[in-house]
Amino acid sequence: MNSGLLLAFDGLDGCGKTTQLARFALRLRAAGHDVLETHEPTEGVWGRRIRAMARSGERVPADEELRWFVEDRAEHVEREIAPALAAGRTVLTDRYTLSTVAYQGARGLDWRELLADAEARFPLPDLVLLFEIEPAAGMARIRARGEPLEPSFEETGFLTRVAQVFAALPCSYIERIAGAGSVDRVEARVRAALERRLPDLF
Ligand code: TYD
Repeated sequence: MNSGLLLAFDGLDGCGKTTQLARFALRLRAAGHDVLETHEPTEGVWGRRIRAMARSGERVPADEELRWFVEDRAEHVEREIAPALAAGRTVLTDRYTLSTVAYQGARGLDWRELLADAEARFPLPDLVLLFEIEPAAGMARIRARGEPLEPSFEETGFLTRVAQVFAALPCSYIERIAGAGSVDRVEARVRAALERRLPDLF
């Protein structure tokens, strides 16, 4: 049993999860929580391999790509997430299992199977904040930040399929947040959702 809380922030590229995670971490720390902020893909060997692939636009077969993300997560859980939870820390991760379900599902793998495998193998999140945004709006945000797009993942047709899987996910631990609008407006939605789902947090 975990003694800490595992909260994941997930959604399409450009959905705002990273910004909201940083704000939420500040609030949690101010309230006295011992917070681990972390992300996937990680900075480990699998994560670096994934980023190099994403930047180059290289295509690896879907099964192989899945294996890279799952290896990366296995290392992440073993080295960082599980020890932090065992120590009672509050873990905030930018992407987690549902990214694999949605993105590798959109590559043509069976997302129901990916979800079942993920839930069997990795710690279940206490809550996933799933930020919902139109794929084109997410891509526009990435462009506005001046970041280069990662051609392996950030392409509207593919992201539309990813969004369809995210929309279909039935997990009770998901809280959906509308990601459109200003950072402050989205943060207000995050606060309201957390008060409802985890009223003892603050
Ligand atoms: P991203 O969150 O954009 O990482 P960073 O901003 O650090 O580069 O993640 C990179 C891409 O990887 C993103 O388009 C989603 C994709 N991805 C998957 O396809 N499967 C996964 O399991 C994860 C964690 C990410």
